[in-house]
Amino acid sequence: MPWLLIKFSLPRAHVASVADALEACDALSVTVESASDEQRLQSALEETPLWNENRVVGLFPEHTDSEAVLDAVRAALNTSNIPRGEVSQLDDADWARAWMANYRPLQISPRLWICPSWCAPPDPSAVNLHLDPGLAFGTGTHPTTALCLRWLSEQPCAGKTVIDYGCGSGIVAIAALMLGAARAIGVDVDPQALAVSRENAARNGVGERYRACAPHGLGPEERADLLVANILAGTLIALAAEIAQRVKPGGHVALSGILPEQAEEVRRRYASDFALQSNEQEGWILLAGQRLH
Ligand SMILES: C[S@@+](CC[C@H](N)C(=O)[O-])C[C@H]1O[C@@H](n2cnc3c(N)ncnc32)[C@H](O)[C@@H]1O
Repeated sequence: MPWLLIKFSLPRAHVASVADALEACDALSVTVESASDEQRLQSALEETPLWNENRVVGLFPEHTDSEAVLDAVRAALNTSNIPRGEVSQLDDADWARAWMANYRPLQISPRLWICPSWCAPPDPSAVNLHLDPGLAFGTGTHPTTALCLRWLSEQPCAGKTVIDYGCGSGIVAIAALMLGAARAIGVDVDPQALAVSRENAARNGVGERYRACAPHGLGPEERADLLVANILAGTLIALAAEIAQRVKPGGHVALSGILPEQAEEVRRRYASDFALQSNEQEGWILLAGQRLH
Protein backbone atom coordinates (compact mmCIF):
# COMPACT_ATOMS: atom_id res chain seq x y z
CA MET A 1 0.00 0.00 0.00
CA PRO A 2 1.49 3.42 -0.88
CA TRP A 3 1.51 6.19 1.72
CA LEU A 4 1.11 9.97 1.57
CA LEU A 5 3.83 12.39 2.71
CA ILE A 6 2.97 16.02 3.47
CA LYS A 7 6.06 18.23 4.01
CA PHE A 8 6.51 21.82 5.15
CA SER A 9 9.69 23.89 5.28
CA LEU A 10 9.40 26.08 8.36
CA PRO A 11 11.29 28.43 10.65
CA ARG A 12 11.77 27.15 14.21
CA ALA A 13 8.92 29.21 15.64
CA HIS A 14 6.29 27.28 13.65
CA VAL A 15 7.58 23.73 14.05
CA ALA A 16 5.67 22.74 17.19
CA SER A 17 2.29 24.10 15.97
CA VAL A 18 2.58 22.36 12.61
CA ALA A 19 3.79 19.10 14.15
CA ASP A 20 0.86 19.18 16.62
CA ALA A 21 -1.59 19.93 13.80
CA LEU A 22 -0.30 16.97 11.75
CA GLU A 23 -0.61 14.67 14.76
CA ALA A 24 -4.14 15.94 15.37
CA CYS A 25 -4.93 14.95 11.76
CA ASP A 26 -3.92 11.37 12.66
CA ALA A 27 -0.51 11.37 11.00
CA LEU A 28 1.05 7.93 11.41
CA SER A 29 4.31 9.69 12.19
CA VAL A 30 5.65 13.25 12.30
CA THR A 31 9.34 13.83 11.59
CA VAL A 32 11.33 17.03 12.11
CA GLU A 33 14.54 17.27 10.12
CA SER A 34 16.96 19.95 8.96
CA ALA A 35 15.96 21.64 5.71
CA SER A 36 19.64 22.36 4.98
CA ASP A 37 23.10 21.06 5.91
CA GLU A 38 23.06 23.17 9.06
CA GLN A 39 24.24 21.62 12.33
CA ARG A 40 21.81 21.09 15.19
CA LEU A 41 21.17 24.18 17.32
CA GLN A 42 20.42 22.58 20.63
CA SER A 43 20.93 19.24 22.28
CA ALA A 44 19.36 19.47 25.69
CA LEU A 45 17.75 16.39 27.13
CA GLU A 46 14.08 15.87 26.30
CA GLU A 47 14.12 18.44 23.51
CA THR A 48 13.64 17.66 19.84
CA PRO A 49 16.61 19.17 18.01
CA LEU A 50 15.63 22.15 15.87
CA TRP A 51 17.34 24.07 13.12
CA ASN A 52 16.81 27.56 11.70
CA GLU A 53 15.10 26.01 8.67
CA ASN A 54 13.21 22.84 9.47
CA ARG A 55 11.34 20.32 7.41
CA VAL A 56 8.29 18.88 9.15
CA VAL A 57 7.02 15.72 7.49
CA GLY A 58 3.73 13.98 8.21
CA LEU A 59 3.16 10.41 7.03
CA PHE A 60 -0.45 9.49 6.30
CA PRO A 61 -2.43 6.59 4.86
CA GLU A 62 -2.78 6.84 1.07
CA HIS A 63 -6.37 8.11 0.88
CA THR A 64 -6.00 10.96 3.39
CA ASP A 65 -7.67 14.22 2.33
CA SER A 66 -4.52 16.34 1.92
CA GLU A 67 -6.56 19.56 1.53
CA ALA A 68 -8.10 18.97 4.96
CA VAL A 69 -4.60 18.53 6.43
CA LEU A 70 -3.42 21.77 4.79
CA ASP A 71 -6.50 23.55 6.20
CA ALA A 72 -5.70 22.23 9.68
CA VAL A 73 -2.12 23.49 9.43
CA ARG A 74 -3.38 26.86 8.21
CA ALA A 75 -5.74 27.06 11.20
CA ALA A 76 -2.95 26.06 13.61
CA LEU A 77 -0.75 28.90 12.37
CA ASN A 78 -3.70 31.25 12.32
CA THR A 79 -2.79 32.55 8.87
CA SER A 80 -3.75 31.86 5.30
CA ASN A 81 -0.15 32.53 4.29
CA ILE A 82 1.30 29.16 5.29
CA PRO A 83 4.41 27.76 3.67
CA ARG A 84 3.48 25.63 0.69
CA GLY A 85 2.81 22.04 1.73
CA GLU A 86 4.46 19.52 -0.57
CA VAL A 87 2.31 16.42 -1.04
CA SER A 88 3.86 13.23 -2.43
CA GLN A 89 3.35 9.48 -2.44
CA LEU A 90 5.67 7.04 -0.74
CA ASP A 91 5.92 3.49 -2.01
CA ASP A 92 5.92 0.46 0.23
CA ALA A 93 9.63 -0.02 -0.39
CA ASP A 94 10.32 3.32 1.29
CA TRP A 95 7.74 3.24 4.06
CA ALA A 96 10.15 2.03 6.68
CA ARG A 97 12.41 5.03 6.20
CA ALA A 98 9.70 7.57 6.87
CA TRP A 99 9.10 6.91 10.53
CA MET A 100 12.10 8.63 12.01
CA ALA A 101 10.87 11.21 14.49
CA ASN A 102 11.37 12.81 17.88
CA TYR A 103 14.92 11.83 18.69
CA ARG A 104 15.31 12.01 22.44
CA PRO A 105 16.20 9.53 25.20
CA LEU A 106 13.40 7.04 25.39
CA GLN A 107 12.77 4.75 28.35
CA ILE A 108 11.52 1.39 27.14
CA SER A 109 11.46 -0.40 30.48
CA PRO A 110 12.99 0.17 33.94
CA ARG A 111 16.29 -1.23 32.67
CA LEU A 112 16.40 -0.24 28.99
CA TRP A 113 16.84 3.20 27.39
CA ILE A 114 17.40 4.23 23.77
CA CYS A 115 19.58 7.36 23.63
CA PRO A 116 20.63 9.55 20.71
CA SER A 117 24.41 9.95 20.83
CA TRP A 118 24.14 13.70 21.51
CA CYS A 119 22.27 13.15 24.81
CA ALA A 120 23.75 12.03 28.11
CA PRO A 121 21.92 8.90 29.31
CA PRO A 122 19.37 9.97 31.95
CA ASP A 123 20.14 6.78 33.93
CA PRO A 124 23.80 5.80 33.43
CA SER A 125 23.29 2.57 35.40
CA ALA A 126 20.61 1.29 32.96
CA VAL A 127 21.23 -0.53 29.66
CA ASN A 128 21.66 2.47 27.33
CA LEU A 129 21.51 1.67 23.62
CA HIS A 130 22.94 4.53 21.54
CA LEU A 131 21.28 5.03 18.22
CA ASP A 132 21.09 7.99 15.88
CA PRO A 133 18.52 8.51 13.18
CA GLY A 134 19.73 7.02 9.94
CA LEU A 135 18.21 5.71 6.77
CA ALA A 136 17.23 2.35 8.25
CA PHE A 137 14.00 2.07 10.25
CA GLY A 138 14.24 1.67 13.99
CA THR A 139 14.92 4.47 16.44
CA GLY A 140 12.61 3.05 19.09
CA THR A 141 10.14 5.89 18.81
CA HIS A 142 7.68 4.05 16.62
CA PRO A 143 5.12 2.01 18.61
CA THR A 144 5.84 -1.14 16.59
CA THR A 145 9.49 -0.99 17.68
CA ALA A 146 8.69 0.07 21.24
CA LEU A 147 6.35 -2.93 21.59
CA CYS A 148 9.16 -5.28 20.48
CA LEU A 149 11.70 -3.71 22.82
CA ARG A 150 9.36 -3.80 25.81
CA TRP A 151 8.51 -7.45 25.13
CA LEU A 152 12.21 -8.24 24.77
CA SER A 153 13.16 -6.53 28.01
CA GLU A 154 10.64 -8.77 29.81
CA GLN A 155 12.29 -11.96 28.47
CA PRO A 156 15.24 -13.65 30.12
CA CYS A 157 17.80 -12.93 27.38
CA ALA A 158 20.94 -14.25 29.09
CA GLY A 159 22.76 -16.76 26.91
CA LYS A 160 20.00 -16.80 24.28
CA THR A 161 20.23 -16.76 20.49
CA VAL A 162 18.04 -14.06 18.96
CA ILE A 163 16.88 -13.48 15.38
CA ASP A 164 15.70 -9.96 14.50
CA TYR A 165 13.75 -10.61 11.29
CA GLY A 166 13.47 -7.29 9.42
CA CYS A 167 16.25 -5.74 11.49
CA GLY A 168 16.32 -2.21 9.99
CA SER A 169 18.72 -0.26 12.20
CA GLY A 170 19.35 -3.44 14.24
CA ILE A 171 17.78 -1.86 17.32
CA VAL A 172 16.03 -5.04 18.51
CA ALA A 173 19.02 -7.34 18.01
CA ILE A 174 21.37 -4.86 19.66
CA ALA A 175 19.02 -4.42 22.63
CA ALA A 176 18.88 -8.22 23.01
CA LEU A 177 22.68 -8.43 23.05
CA MET A 178 22.96 -5.60 25.57
CA LEU A 179 20.37 -7.39 27.73
CA GLY A 180 22.63 -10.46 27.79
CA ALA A 181 21.85 -12.54 24.69
CA ALA A 182 24.78 -14.67 23.60
CA ARG A 183 24.39 -13.84 19.91
CA ALA A 184 21.96 -12.15 17.56
CA ILE A 185 21.31 -12.32 13.85
CA GLY A 186 19.74 -9.39 12.01
CA VAL A 187 17.95 -10.36 8.80
CA ASP A 188 16.84 -7.84 6.20
CA VAL A 189 16.16 -7.60 2.47
CA ASP A 190 17.64 -4.07 2.44
CA PRO A 191 21.47 -4.09 2.10
CA GLN A 192 21.58 -0.60 3.63
CA ALA A 193 19.82 -1.88 6.76
CA LEU A 194 22.37 -4.70 7.04
CA ALA A 195 25.27 -2.22 6.82
CA VAL A 196 23.72 0.29 9.24
CA SER A 197 22.82 -2.41 11.76
CA ARG A 198 26.44 -3.69 11.75
CA GLU A 199 27.68 -0.16 12.41
CA ASN A 200 25.15 0.33 15.20
CA ALA A 201 26.10 -2.98 16.81
CA ALA A 202 29.80 -2.04 16.72
CA ARG A 203 29.06 1.43 18.14
CA ASN A 204 27.27 -0.20 21.08
CA GLY A 205 30.14 -2.61 21.73
CA VAL A 206 28.28 -5.77 20.70
CA GLY A 207 29.50 -6.08 17.11
CA GLU A 208 31.37 -9.32 17.74
CA ARG A 209 28.20 -11.13 18.78
CA TYR A 210 26.09 -9.69 15.94
CA ARG A 211 25.71 -11.00 12.42
CA ALA A 212 23.63 -9.36 9.68
CA CYS A 213 22.48 -11.19 6.57
CA ALA A 214 19.84 -11.32 3.87
CA PRO A 215 17.11 -13.98 4.37
CA HIS A 216 18.93 -16.43 2.06
CA GLY A 217 22.06 -16.00 4.21
CA LEU A 218 20.48 -17.89 7.12
CA GLY A 219 21.74 -21.45 7.31
CA PRO A 220 19.09 -24.20 6.97
CA GLU A 221 19.53 -25.20 10.63
CA GLU A 222 19.79 -21.69 12.07
CA ARG A 223 17.18 -21.28 14.84
CA ALA A 224 16.60 -18.84 17.68
CA ASP A 225 15.40 -18.98 21.27
CA LEU A 226 13.77 -15.59 20.66
CA LEU A 227 12.67 -14.36 17.24
CA VAL A 228 11.33 -10.83 16.82
CA ALA A 229 9.84 -9.73 13.49
CA ASN A 230 8.63 -6.17 13.09
CA ILE A 231 7.43 -6.22 9.48
CA LEU A 232 4.08 -5.43 7.91
CA ALA A 233 1.24 -7.92 8.49
CA GLY A 234 1.21 -9.05 4.87
CA THR A 235 4.90 -9.99 5.08
CA LEU A 236 4.42 -11.73 8.43
CA ILE A 237 1.68 -13.82 6.82
CA ALA A 238 3.76 -14.59 3.73
CA LEU A 239 6.73 -15.58 5.92
CA ALA A 240 4.74 -17.58 8.52
CA ALA A 241 6.30 -20.96 7.67
CA GLU A 242 9.84 -19.54 7.46
CA ILE A 243 9.54 -17.57 10.71
CA ALA A 244 7.94 -20.46 12.61
CA GLN A 245 10.65 -22.91 11.60
CA ARG A 246 13.37 -20.45 12.74
CA VAL A 247 12.17 -20.70 16.37
CA LYS A 248 13.56 -23.54 18.51
CA PRO A 249 11.08 -25.85 20.26
CA GLY A 250 10.14 -24.03 23.47
CA GLY A 251 11.39 -20.74 22.02
CA HIS A 252 9.37 -17.54 21.73
CA VAL A 253 8.25 -15.35 18.84
CA ALA A 254 7.12 -11.70 18.81
CA LEU A 255 5.36 -10.37 15.70
CA SER A 256 4.89 -6.62 15.28
CA GLY A 257 3.76 -4.09 12.63
CA ILE A 258 0.16 -5.33 12.81
CA LEU A 259 -3.00 -3.21 12.73
CA PRO A 260 -5.91 -4.35 14.95
CA GLU A 261 -8.02 -5.49 11.99
CA GLN A 262 -5.11 -7.65 10.74
CA ALA A 263 -4.32 -9.36 14.06
CA GLU A 264 -6.79 -12.26 13.78
CA GLU A 265 -5.51 -13.28 10.36
CA VAL A 266 -1.87 -13.18 11.51
CA ARG A 267 -2.76 -15.17 14.65
CA ARG A 268 -4.58 -17.77 12.50
CA ARG A 269 -1.56 -18.22 10.19
CA TYR A 270 0.72 -18.98 13.16
CA ALA A 271 -1.83 -20.97 15.22
CA SER A 272 -0.42 -24.42 14.38
CA ASP A 273 2.93 -23.50 15.98
CA PHE A 274 2.22 -20.77 18.55
CA ALA A 275 -0.46 -19.69 21.04
CA LEU A 276 -0.15 -15.93 20.57
CA GLN A 277 -1.16 -13.25 23.07
CA SER A 278 -1.61 -9.65 21.99
CA ASN A 279 -0.31 -6.34 23.34
CA GLU A 280 -1.44 -2.99 21.97
CA GLN A 281 0.20 0.43 21.79
CA GLU A 282 -1.16 3.47 19.96
CA GLY A 283 -3.22 1.42 17.55
CA TRP A 284 -0.53 -1.17 16.79
CA ILE A 285 -0.60 -4.82 17.89
CA LEU A 286 2.22 -7.12 18.92
CA LEU A 287 1.47 -10.86 18.95
CA ALA A 288 3.81 -12.97 21.06
CA GLY A 289 3.95 -16.51 22.36
CA GLN A 290 5.88 -19.71 22.93
CA ARG A 291 6.38 -22.41 20.34
CA LEU A 292 3.98 -25.26 21.08
CA HIS A 293 6.20 -28.15 19.91
C1 LIG B 1 9.41 -1.79 10.27
S1 LIG B 1 11.07 -2.07 9.92
C2 LIG B 1 11.61 -2.77 11.48
C3 LIG B 1 13.00 -2.36 11.91
C4 LIG B 1 13.39 -2.75 13.33
N1 LIG B 1 13.43 -4.19 13.51
C5 LIG B 1 12.43 -2.13 14.34
O1 LIG B 1 11.74 -2.87 15.04
O2 LIG B 1 12.38 -0.91 14.44
C6 LIG B 1 10.91 -3.46 8.86
C7 LIG B 1 12.17 -3.94 8.21
O3 LIG B 1 11.85 -5.18 7.57
C8 LIG B 1 12.57 -5.25 6.35
N2 LIG B 1 11.86 -6.23 5.50
C9 LIG B 1 10.77 -6.03 4.74
N3 LIG B 1 10.41 -7.19 4.13
C10 LIG B 1 11.30 -8.13 4.53
C11 LIG B 1 11.47 -9.53 4.25
N4 LIG B 1 10.64 -10.19 3.43
N5 LIG B 1 12.48 -10.19 4.84
C12 LIG B 1 13.33 -9.53 5.67
N6 LIG B 1 13.23 -8.21 5.96
C13 LIG B 1 12.23 -7.52 5.40
C14 LIG B 1 12.58 -3.81 5.84
O4 LIG B 1 13.64 -3.61 4.93
C15 LIG B 1 12.74 -3.02 7.15
O5 LIG B 1 14.09 -2.74 7.44
